[in-house]
Amino acid sequence: MTDTLALLGGTPVRTRSFPAWPVFDATDEARLVAALRSGKWGRLAGDQVAEFEQRFAAMHGCRHGIAVVNGTVSLRIALMAAGLQAEDEVIVPTYTFLSTATAVVEANAVPVFVDVDLDTFNIDPALVEAAITPRTRAIIPVHFAGQPADMAAMLAIAERHGLFVLEDAAHAHGASWRDRPAGSIGHVGSFSFQSSKNLTSGEGGIIVTNDEALAASCRSIHNCGRVEGGIWYEHHVISANYRLGELQGALLNSQLDRLEAQTTTRDANGRHLAARLAALPGLHPQSRPADVTTHSQHLFMLRLDAAAFGAPRAAVLDALQAEGIPCSGGYGFPLPSQPLFRHKAFGPYLAHVRDRLDYTQVSCPNSELICREQGIWFDQSMMLGSRADMDDIADAMEKVHRHRDALAARALQAR
Ligand SMILES: Cc1ncc(COP(=O)(O)O)c(C=O)c1O
Repeated sequence: MTDTLALLGGTPVRTRSFPAWPVFDATDEARLVAALRSGKWGRLAGDQVAEFEQRFAAMHGCRHGIAVVNGTVSLRIALMAAGLQAEDEVIVPTYTFLSTATAVVEANAVPVFVDVDLDTFNIDPALVEAAITPRTRAIIPVHFAGQPADMAAMLAIAERHGLFVLEDAAHAHGASWRDRPAGSIGHVGSFSFQSSKNLTSGEGGIIVTNDEALAASCRSIHNCGRVEGGIWYEHHVISANYRLGELQGALLNSQLDRLEAQTTTRDANGRHLAARLAALPGLHPQSRPADVTTHSQHLFMLRLDAAAFGAPRAAVLDALQAEGIPCSGGYGFPLPSQPLFRHKAFGPYLAHVRDRLDYTQVSCPNSELICREQGIWFDQSMMLGSRADMDDIADAMEKVHRHRDALAARALQAR
């Protein structure tokens, strides 16, 4: 029965599970218990968050790290610290998580959407250049799936037009571009430590930068507008308490000890899997420019040309899952199609420009194709598996392709 699709009653390629996430052991427990017993649970009293900030910034060749409660407010704080004014424009990709664009709205600035490249899944530099107007102030390249965006192009465009570059590195812990850590290349980098991320404390985020003034501003905004050496109840700027707690700081310190080895494993597995899948007709793994030194593989992502499988993506995903391979199609539609953007449901933000904004007119054919028909995601925790685990993914894909006629017949029946 092994040569019948598991979906049709055959034996699945695998029944074992892939590595669990998060990974933790007694070293995490020891750090957490020590922080717990210290009684210093807030960052103002303890030393865990401060230690983590210093280590994470140093790992990025940055002088400053400001840990915050998540990777959405880190983006917003960075934009506020950059001095964005009401209704300035910020260029963001159409293919990313919601936060990249909503952080812009919450900074009372206008997200201007730009499509991604069909092969790298990262923002397309030529389209960035074309989207610049006299109101453009910043670009947020997202290192999608953990693959650094074309930072040479981003920096050149920024230089030409005097723009601020905020790297959304929420997927890119440990990734590097021309040997430079992702997040350290633009003016400022933003990371998330939410539970799915390659480095996690359940929730959390950090801003890294080498810019002294920017760091001071971010630190103030994340701490109720206080300033270094200022009086406790003296607040200088619109801000709030976005400080990360000590228990999360403790966990991040122990988790960080594993990141380098985990990144090496994910990257090597990603290369192997990409090579195997690229050999199959109709599969296009994320293409990797030579400038990408390390891919953190927050996701392993590919495009499926459904015609080569004779069945739509949903059928292929069902078949893979039945073979014991967890997978998904990722985002179902590009960000401008989100109800929030279609209806401009921005609450009190962007009140004066709302009438002239129309996100239903954004053209992003590549993101549309990836979202609605072609994108496939495998999670980062799968990439922590063995070479044999990667071969199971590729074997399952090969099996589904081999049985494409049976799959197509089933998909037709299901109509
Ligand atoms: C690309 C991207 N940016 C920002 C974020 C926001 O991070 P958080 O969930 O920590 O707010 C995420 C999280 O999922 C993300 O994927």
